[in-house]
Amino acid sequence: MDRVFITRQIPPTGLEMLREACEVVVWEDELPPPRDVLMKEAAQSDGLISLLTDKIDAALMEQSPKLRVISNYAVGYDNIDVAAATARGIPVGNTPGVLTETCADHAFALMLAAATRIGEAERYVHAGKWQTWHPMLMLGQDVHNATLGIVGFGRIGQAVARRATGFGMRILYTGGSRAGDIAAELGAEQVDLETLLRESDFISLHIPLKPETTNLINADALRTMKKNAVLINTARGKVVDSAALYAALKAGDIAYAALDVTEPEPIKMDDPLLTLDNCLIVPHIASASFATRDRIGQIAAANMLAGLKGEPMLHCVNPEVQGK
Ligand code: GLV
Repeated sequence: MDRVFITRQIPPTGLEMLREACEVVVWEDELPPPRDVLMKEAAQSDGLISLLTDKIDAALMEQSPKLRVISNYAVGYDNIDVAAATARGIPVGNTPGVLTETCADHAFALMLAAATRIGEAERYVHAGKWQTWHPMLMLGQDVHNATLGIVGFGRIGQAVARRATGFGMRILYTGGSRAGDIAAELGAEQVDLETLLRESDFISLHIPLKPETTNLINADALRTMKKNAVLINTARGKVVDSAALYAALKAGDIAYAALDVTEPEPIKMDDPLLTLDNCLIVPHIASASFATRDRIGQIAAANMLAGLKGEPMLHCVNPEVQGK
């Protein structure tokens, strides 16, 4: 029977699917397995279900000759050295599609929360500062009819755009080379990054982390944005230069940031971003609905089971190794 190591508790449906077919070992701790545990478990396993917190690199694969399948419980897979897996003929699965709508909901929630200062307002009430209604209290920005810039027009970016049409927003986007029909249907306009940064009131990031997207939002990009701009990041922390973001928010060069992801994660408690009222930070929860997290588990399990049988995965990031 194939042995599968899962680096954390996952929701029940996917876990059951795996338990029916494999010997399953789950790392039960809240925190990720330490590196030595991960290495030891991987070395004994045929399959590895990893999370975005687990570094699955060439050294791990090198010392795990039995390992035939890696299935990431996430759509992003920047935690995995895919080239190293491909070189060893190991298929790597990920979980696109099932989390698109939930992530788009969350990006929109962050946008609305930043625009209307929900985090600050809640802290204000809890601190006992609410004394009266005041015409100038906690003024924010309108989302309706504003310009939304979507950086990366893949599944999630498009789902955010669909929501924005309900708010009468003007929609600009970059990327999405194959999205022309959807863009036309949504009335979204493809522009270059500089135009998007210059013209948008809200800028939402929906690109994967790659060498070319690391620090894409740097001091120059932040300087190009409007003073009232709100930056929303549900992609990966490293896409934004956080020192430059702090400087821009502190100086009022942009108005607000709402971050689901940070660099590092968790954010360090002495990170200066945590001292700012105009920076809303939540702990990487964009896909965290009960239903979606369960569906992610089902896809991760289905990818694993297919891979172990030598069949094509539902979603494989290096399909060239499948069937070899
Ligand atoms: C979450 O960040 C994911 O990549 O699924």
